[in-house]
Amino acid sequence: MIKHQHHGLKIGTILIMMLSLACTFGVSSSSSNNLHPLILIPGNGGNQLEAKLTSEYKACNWFCERWYPLVKKKDGWFRLWFDSTVLLAPFTQCFADRMKLHYDTHRDDYYNTPGVHTRVPQFGSTYSLLYLNPRLKHATEYMARLVDSLQQLGYSDGETLFGSPYDFRYGLAAKGHPSQVGSKFLEDLKSLIENASTSNGGKPVILLSHSLGGLFVLQLLNRNPPSWRKKFVKHFIALSAPWGGAMDEMLTFASGNSLGVPLVEPLIVRNEQRSCESNLWLLPNPKVYGNSTPLVITQNRSYSAYDMVDFLKDIGFPEGVYPYETRILPLIENIVAPEVPMTCIIGTGVRTVESLFYKNSDFDEQPEVLYGDGDGTVNMVSLLALQSLWKDEKNQSLEVIKIDGVTHTSILKDEVALGEIVGEINRINSPIQLGLRNFVVNTKMGSDK
Ligand SMILES: *[C@@H]1O[C@H](CO)[C@@H](O)[C@H](O)[C@H]1NC(C)=O
Ligand SMILES: *[C@@H]1O[C@H](CO)[C@@H](O)[C@H](O)[C@H]1NC(C)=O
Ligand SMILES: *[C@@H]1O[C@H](CO)[C@@H](O)[C@H](O)[C@H]1NC(C)=O
Repeated sequence: MIKHQHHGLKIGTILIMMLSLACTFGVSSSSSNNLHPLILIPGNGGNQLEAKLTSEYKACNWFCERWYPLVKKKDGWFRLWFDSTVLLAPFTQCFADRMKLHYDTHRDDYYNTPGVHTRVPQFGSTYSLLYLNPRLKHATEYMARLVDSLQQLGYSDGETLFGSPYDFRYGLAAKGHPSQVGSKFLEDLKSLIENASTSNGGKPVILLSHSLGGLFVLQLLNRNPPSWRKKFVKHFIALSAPWGGAMDEMLTFASGNSLGVPLVEPLIVRNEQRSCESNLWLLPNPKVYGNSTPLVITQNRSYSAYDMVDFLKDIGFPEGVYPYETRILPLIENIVAPEVPMTCIIGTGVRTVESLFYKNSDFDEQPEVLYGDGDGTVNMVSLLALQSLWKDEKNQSLEVIKIDGVTHTSILKDEVALGEIVGEINRINSPIQLGLRNFVVNTKMGSDK
């Protein structure tokens, strides 16, 4: 019986995919100029990052000084993210030291380790989003398959398709607080949107984000006037967006996160991870997680999302309290509807960190973890946060497509997920205009189910 249903769903999906292909051929035969330009905004860690060291840089030890990085270009630039030597324990420390950010209370902003310059390769192109390391395509594939599906629709890099990589270690801050790197990224993205529209006959663009990229896009929209949004943005599709943060971040702050790589010792990268402004932005939002659920439990006490300040102090990261209270809390307090039509596509039904138990009140030990529903990284309550926060917004079109069994990043590769994403882009490009699609939830099965 279950098998039969499963089969039925697959055939259904294939039909949908064929139909969308049929539509595309219809469109592209007249010319792919009919497509709304599309801009990809990656998630945390979702694009390449390069670095260069100046004489100001003081390596943390002689080993890093002498041996890291193994490979540099002639002009001194080297690949900081993703570089596979990070997997070798002695190099992990060198990597972490160069990735680390610092917060300056006087300037009220974050900055790189002195003497470390960083840059994103090829802003405007999808190049740096395809693979995190083009020499390790298989292991570090990111948006390659998604971009491939978009090219099959008729999208072409630099003409109708654009990428906006950024330094994902930095975030944004509440109004009145400088955030030089993050704000510069928003300016560049704004300019990219305007240019993409202008070079495509004034057509408004489709923004397609993954994970943290969605939070940046929402800020960009809300920091520009409604007339600008209407003129330049056709639709915003957010994949796997952690609207209310993620419990996974509390684990990262408390005990470090192995980057999903078993060889990386979490405590070695913990300081670097704590230093990233974007990680602070992604801690569970009290407005979304509430105060009734204990997220972290130790021998001494429990912490809800409202106890984040105590949590940061107790894990031994009191430096995080001031920027969290002044820059992050007011930023995440009010998640404003941009009144740009939106579609959220999310994975569900995957074991996701929901609460942490520290038996000995020692955050250096890896905790016992209780799992709940989500996409493996982001909890359900966060993936679905906009539906509840915006339930009274009359002018906000919001569609949610859930795909069972698809994870936070497999959404960029899974056949069913890609079919949904491409189908949505086809609908948006179709000349038949749809009315407000409010809070429709579609549930699909991922191709692994
Ligand atoms: C947009 O176009 C202007 C004018 O051609 C150019 O100066 C600017 O660098 C472009 N911005 C981006 C992000 O491509
Ligand atoms: C737990 O409580 C005990 C007694 O109040 C205190 O001595 C200890 O420092 C606390 N541990 C932590 C990690 O807060
Ligand atoms: C919806 O938009 C209309 C027209 O722009 C405006 O008058 C109204 O206040 C908006 N409603 C909400 C709930 O924002």
